[in-house]
Amino acid sequence: MSGRIIDGKAIAAGVRADVAAAVNALPAQPTLAVVLVGDDPASHVYVASKVKTTNEVGMRSVEIRLPAETTQDDLLARVAALSADPEVDGILVQLPLPKHISEPAVLAAIDPLKDVDGLTEASAGKLVLGKPGLRPCTPVGCVILAKTERPDLAGANVVVIGRSILVGKPAALLFLEQNATVTIAHSKTRDLKMVCRGADILVAAVGRPEMVRSDWIRPGAIVIDVGTNRVPAPEKGEGKTKLVGDVHFAEAIEVAAAITPSPGGVGPMTIACLLRNTVLAACARRGWTVPTALAAG
Ligand code: GUN
Repeated sequence: MSGRIIDGKAIAAGVRADVAAAVNALPAQPTLAVVLVGDDPASHVYVASKVKTTNEVGMRSVEIRLPAETTQDDLLARVAALSADPEVDGILVQLPLPKHISEPAVLAAIDPLKDVDGLTEASAGKLVLGKPGLRPCTPVGCVILAKTERPDLAGANVVVIGRSILVGKPAALLFLEQNATVTIAHSKTRDLKMVCRGADILVAAVGRPEMVRSDWIRPGAIVIDVGTNRVPAPEKGEGKTKLVGDVHFAEAIEVAAAITPSPGGVGPMTIACLLRNTVLAACARRGWTVPTALAAG
């Protein structure tokens, strides 16, 4: 039996349409600033996509690309300037940063009111405390995708593999906010396969290509694959590569009730939620009412 494919592209298009309608209803266009340091090819692709979709939904974007040798002080000054700029509603500093720059120091320079990535201490604190605030985009995308299959997550056993600040930890808290019973599994977890087999909803966010195999998945589970890993693809020709998730898709779809593909699952949701956060940040900072198109979620 084959499970359903959760079409992240289509669901993200719906979120983007809501964002576009909301932008249209605002008194002025919000602006998202995206900062990219260095030449990581994947980060360049992500940032280009973030800027393009920002413009597509009718918002303005400011793109700041800096060389890999940028000093931490230079970057801190750039981020501080964006924080102080009244025209800028959202600031995203693409991670990872080059090794010589402290990510916590840079995130601390982002005005929490403009923290559309939900990664500052202020935003993380609000998430832990259950207070309203800007939530990290990829984890929000995971919850939205899971809810398309199971609208009421109360009591669901959710296992999140991975404990990163970008995905694993906030995803666990967001599922907890939905009254799920949440387990965070990681590299030190004993008998990881059996822990995963207990999941009604399995969220894989480890960055290890096709690590989750069919016997890790309870028949009928929902699988959310956050991984996007580039691997060699000799079948496509010499030197060719392809993207795969943290889950072995072909195996998993035979067991799961539903699964997100990668690419085409969580990735598009991350960007859609970023745009949504930018509108919410603009409304909160500028004292605008959140347009009805976004008010519900
Ligand atoms: N790198 C990979 N994903 C993300 C993300 O969602 N936000 C930021 N800032 N960097 C990332």
